Amino acid sequence: MDDIVVGPLDLAARVDDALAVQALAFGLSAEEVGVRRHIVLRHLTNPGARALGATTPSGRLVGFVYGMPNDRTQWWSTVVEPYLRATGTEGWLDESFVITELHVHPAFQNRHIGRALLTGLTAGASEPRSILSAIDTESPARALYRKLGYRDLARQVVFPSAASPYVVMGATLPLHG
Ligand SMILES: CC(C)(COP(=O)(O)OP(=O)(O)OC[C@H]1O[C@@H](n2cnc3c(N)ncnc32)[C@H](O)[C@@H]1OP(=O)(O)O)[C@@H](O)C(=O)NCCC(=O)NCCS
Repeated sequence: MDDIVVGPLDLAARVDDALAVQALAFGLSAEEVGVRRHIVLRHLTNPGARALGATTPSGRLVGFVYGMPNDRTQWWSTVVEPYLRATGTEGWLDESFVITELHVHPAFQNRHIGRALLTGLTAGASEPRSILSAIDTESPARALYRKLGYRDLARQVVFPSAASPYVVMGATLPLHG
């Protein structure tokens, strides 16, 4: 990633660029992009929300990550809470920095950009741990999360709007970067 710079991202200003990356990396329809756009902009009103971007020398955005301190009243937390309670890991919802999205453009993957985005964002967190959800399959994302110290807290977590079940993972900070 010699020519790629990872640094703070004004995600509200670059939301369309970021969602274009996400659409390619994760596979989003135009309709889903529209829905995500509202969700991202709403998340960014949370005072603890932070984002990092990966950009080329010409300023093209090729990856991004964002997250915020967990808030038990927010939708994501209320969905995962009973699953964590069932595995005795519910305490991970307190004093935890949530990774909401992490995506790297397919043409720029496997260059340690995802790793740099995730370790960089969590390095700025004051919370002692981090949690996230990922599709419950052996994906590149899951391999990256495991490598950085995230472990499974609950599996087969069903989000009402999602086609596939998710895994919730947690890691103590700082990550094994
Ligand atoms: C997950 C994602 C962000 C990783 O970004 P990336 O820049 O390609 O990842 P990195 O190059 O930093 O990979 C770091 C580590 O992750 C693991 N990893 C990454 N890609 C992998 C793959 N295809 N297969 C297996 N392990 C992989 C490896 O352990 C790698 O470490 P190594 O280089 O020492 O072997 C990227 O694959 C992506 O955008 N995927 C689609 C969107 C997505 O699933 N986002 C997460 C939603 S939960």
